[in-house]
Amino acid sequence: MGSATFSMPASALPAGARAPVHRSSASRRATRRSSFYADIRRPLYSVIKSESVDPVRNPYAPGAGQRPPELAGRDRELQQFEVVLERVARGRPERSMVLTGLRGVGKTVLLNTFKSMAMQRLWGTGKIEARPDQSIRRPVAAAMHMAVRELAPRHRAPERIEEFLGVLKAFAMRDPSAAKGTSHWSPGIDVPAGRGRADSGDLEIDLTELFVDAASVATDLGVGIALFIDEMQDVQAPDVSALCAACHELSQSGGPLIVVGAGLPHLPSVLSASKSYSERLFRYARIDRLDRTAADLALIAPAEREGVEFTQEALDALYTAADGYPYFVQAYGKVTWDLALRSPITADDVRLAAPEAEEELAVGFFGSRYERATPAERDYMHAMASVGDEPVATAQVAEVLTRKPSSLSPARDSLIKKGLIYSAERGLIAFTVPHFGKFLRAQPV
Ligand SMILES: Nc1ncnc2c1ncn2[C@@H]1O[C@H](COP(=O)(O)OP(=O)(O)O)[C@@H](O)[C@H]1O
Ligand SMILES: [Mg+2]
Repeated sequence: MGSATFSMPASALPAGARAPVHRSSASRRATRRSSFYADIRRPLYSVIKSESVDPVRNPYAPGAGQRPPELAGRDRELQQFEVVLERVARGRPERSMVLTGLRGVGKTVLLNTFKSMAMQRLWGTGKIEARPDQSIRRPVAAAMHMAVRELAPRHRAPERIEEFLGVLKAFAMRDPSAAKGTSHWSPGIDVPAGRGRADSGDLEIDLTELFVDAASVATDLGVGIALFIDEMQDVQAPDVSALCAACHELSQSGGPLIVVGAGLPHLPSVLSASKSYSERLFRYARIDRLDRTAADLALIAPAEREGVEFTQEALDALYTAADGYPYFVQAYGKVTWDLALRSPITADDVRLAAPEAEEELAVGFFGSRYERATPAERDYMHAMASVGDEPVATAQVAEVLTRKPSSLSPARDSLIKKGLIYSAERGLIAFTVPHFGKFLRAQPV
């Protein structure tokens, strides 16, 4: 293959970016007037010449929930969600979707894309990010408010909207922290709170009534409502149970409202621990590393739009480094682009960039999470890492630390709560962050 490049022919670059600029003798004379400008031009020229890989136009975007320049390798999930939307809108029985996977595989980005798809169909949409220390009542109220606000301008009967907002307000005001009188629900709903609906204080009953009413407003318009829940594994146990029950109720009545979730790999077991029928409510889609073709596409497609190409060897090196994990694809792509002088980007550029990319990952991606662990929790994770990169038996961690397994339960449980590890199966644990073991093994203990 040699130095074959993988991109469409470099296209719409201004001619000046590729070929040296020929200045007219008049302009040469003009610059010569000041030797200061003549001198500064020489160092600048090399910058101008490398414009074909311009750092300002670097397309790659490592970051949590950061929309990638190319959403690669997710066609199947997008198609599945199209079908879900279509079926739900027609009142057909359909399981909603829940995305699961490690950190940095692109769950949030996909969830946001699903949200856009629903909005394009003129659905009402709202999104929350669950937190372990917070009831979902208020966030759900705010999200449902957003969803119905999207529908309101198209609704012919304003009193239907007002009626719903009254129910929503009553629902929100049943929040236990609001009852103390310390906080009011700030996003102003101008209508008075209703009474006798969604305000019992029992979240299961209240969510069910709220969802049924919201679905009925959407039905008036022939659309649906989608509530998106990111970090769904962090929804508190009683709330998970209430949420599943409300979805169950709704699926039976055929109301066009769906709850779409995303979370860590153990999310299915969190849901089924709470309600045994959760498997029948949700279709689980495991979001994983990108295969080689998709990972290449994630790099090539955005570069192509900037008239930049990669050699085959550069793509090989990038795939080896990023291992197909979308966050890493973006991170290595970004630094490589910044350091490359000209197109095509080569394997040497990747080699040069790798240490810097790794350093950035060590600080931003791994370090920020490592920082959240206490010394005892760090010991626990180092012991896990010393065993290997596969899911580890908790008994084996205890052995490494020469401790009784039961004495390590607090560290393990709080690491799970912090979202750093998860229980892959009974008795087994694994890191939620890809390559975290490798990172830990490189750290001084
Ligand atoms: N399909 C994809 N193709 C290319 N890059 C992606 C893809 N999905 C996600 N990314 C990138 O990966 C990073 C992590 O995405 P994110 O959705 O935050 O992951 P998660 O929510 O699973 O932790 C972001 O920088 C995003 O731009
Ligand atoms: Mg996320």
